[in-house]
Amino acid sequence: MLASGSDGQRPVRILGIAGSLRRDSHNRAMLRAASRLAPEGVTVTVYDGLETVPVFNEDLEANPPPGVVSLRHALARSDGLLLSTPEYNQSVPGVVKNMIDWLSREEALSGLAVAVIGASTGPWGTRIAQTSLRQMLLSVQAVVMSDPTLFVPDVEALLDGHGELADEQTSRRLRQVVSSFGDWIRLVTPSDSSSAGAPRSGAGLSV
Ligand code: FNR
Repeated sequence: MLASGSDGQRPVRILGIAGSLRRDSHNRAMLRAASRLAPEGVTVTVYDGLETVPVFNEDLEANPPPGVVSLRHALARSDGLLLSTPEYNQSVPGVVKNMIDWLSREEALSGLAVAVIGASTGPWGTRIAQTSLRQMLLSVQAVVMSDPTLFVPDVEALLDGHGELADEQTSRRLRQVVSSFGDWIRLVTPSDSSSAGAPRSGAGLSV
């Protein structure tokens, strides 16, 4: 059972998914930092199974691949989804679009609280990718937090020798995002949906 926040607020479980399969992904490092920085009562679990989600094919839908089933279950057991996306060619990486295509078919994102952040090695910090991703999420009826935002440019300069976020200002802003997201999840999701280990109500799970 998750501990309540010190002010008695209900605990929230956030699933963090990085839109990169790269072993040393900067965006996964952002999610690890989000997990460390989360306030009391908020848990961020970093998902590591995205590479097992195959390219979407309607022919596979009747018997969903194990990677898709695992992803849906992980989401159903979370109160919110924190996406950290890279930017590829001024858009979202294919793995992110592919994941959303799969999840949209079981309405796994419909009504789910989602926050988007992103880090890139370029100067714009995934602004274009995040804009595109937010639009995509709205089309599948996700409940997208609009503020605060976090665009992390030139991310390589912000990590330590172990690839972990070491920049104080970015850490402070990330903590603010996670804390606000926790508050926002409590605001927009029903209070009976947060018992530890139980699937979220209305999660669209058919497997
Ligand atoms: C990039 N990158 C990139 N960066 C950016 O700011 N705007 C862009 O349009 C692109 N385009 C792009 C295309 C492709 C195919 C690759 C591989 C990379 C750089 C990208 O931001 C950088 O590689 C990030 O570090 C990727 O995120 P992860 O894998 O570190 O999480």
